[in-house]
Amino acid sequence: MTQDRMHKPRSRWELLTQTDTGTPMGDLLRRYWWPIAGASELDRPGTKPVRLLGEDLVLYKDLGEHWGLIDRHCRHRRADLSYGYVEARGLRCNYHGWLYDEAGSCLAQPYEDVAHPEARLRDAVHIKAYPVAELGGLIWAYLGPEPRPLVPDWEFFSWPNGFRQIVKAEIPCNWFQCQENSIDPVHFEWTHSNWGLRLKGRTGPYAPHHVKVDFSEFEYGFQYKRIRSDTSERDELWTIGRVCLWPNALFTGNHIEYRVPIDDENTLSITWAFNRVPKEREPYVQERIPTWQGPIADEKTGRWITSHVMNQDFVTWVGQGRIADRSREYLGPSDGGIVMIRRRFLRDLDAVARGEDPKAVIRDPARNRSIRLPVADRWPLGEGLTRAEMLRDPVTRRSLEGYIFQTGQPPEVRDAFLAAMGFNGAEFAPADDPFDPLAPAPR
Ligand code: FES
Ligand SMILES: [Fe+2]
Repeated sequence: MTQDRMHKPRSRWELLTQTDTGTPMGDLLRRYWWPIAGASELDRPGTKPVRLLGEDLVLYKDLGEHWGLIDRHCRHRRADLSYGYVEARGLRCNYHGWLYDEAGSCLAQPYEDVAHPEARLRDAVHIKAYPVAELGGLIWAYLGPEPRPLVPDWEFFSWPNGFRQIVKAEIPCNWFQCQENSIDPVHFEWTHSNWGLRLKGRTGPYAPHHVKVDFSEFEYGFQYKRIRSDTSERDELWTIGRVCLWPNALFTGNHIEYRVPIDDENTLSITWAFNRVPKEREPYVQERIPTWQGPIADEKTGRWITSHVMNQDFVTWVGQGRIADRSREYLGPSDGGIVMIRRRFLRDLDAVARGEDPKAVIRDPARNRSIRLPVADRWPLGEGLTRAEMLRDPVTRRSLEGYIFQTGQPPEVRDAFLAAMGFNGAEFAPADDPFDPLAPAPR
């Protein structure tokens, strides 16, 4: 842990914001697998710098298609291995040619191997290396102690007949305030529906308001439930709700948002989004899941972008400060879920100190098969809709008009999406302004 990035907790909640190894929370977070990239970012062998939990690393895929995640800096004299080149096996430093494999072994030291072969100097050299796995088109990393748990195989990764995309953004604030947003039902009304409306220059009418919220824990996270002035206790937003997936995500059915700590003051947002194709397009198999990264600030003004759903979330998160000061909060009844997840993490810090696994660590392969989760409004995802039904349903239609969650979707991803869906795009508004505040908001 570097001294300059250490901060002294001002409240006990503040413990939860620390990500470095050697801190209680940093060690707890290392008990889980983290998504760090889309596999499609390295379609071809190569390297990609990664910073995760305060550690500078390099992800690579070698010519033999083995993935590795090793220290960013060469064990010899610290050259930057993201400029190294991959071989049939491993990543070679571009300075003096030392070669490392995914286990951190040094496979070659070209000069030393020739001039002093008897010394076998390389046998003593080991570079920091972490396990990597691929699931759902995502690349996952595990930085914790062995034995490593399993990468959770959530059901949506194996849902059929869907177009999937992976969307990233770098957010300059601590990951935990982003994750607190995963159990915050009331903000939908004010951050998305009503602010979206005001951003469009309208003053009303405001969206149906929340009249009741509830929070409950289940094996893999928490559920938050809500009744709005236009819904009842029979609505699935009350009977099922949405999922704060442990420890690092919001799952709403059609997408999951991971909050990945880069370090104490920066977060990588990784969204995995799913759009079921119309029934007429089945069976549909997606060959490649595209990955793209969207901007969060307006280049001209330097202000945060506010046009899309998650961009609006980003504004609220960074607005809380680089590391939100929990000692200066004034929590209300709508924050019940936030208090629950904070308490759960504090209890898990104790569990890890006792040598136990924290919540939702999965080790049993028999259980880790397409794990079913609570999903409100499941049927359009599970059974699918016809083209006509998609165009008639305002929520589905809106998802066809453009990627509503984040700005910056590349045209080729939009084209691939429309091709998968079997639409030509002429039926819809321009992709760069899909956000209609009068259309039903994400719930
Ligand atoms: S610094 Fe990497 S081989 Fe010398
Ligand atoms: Fe939100």
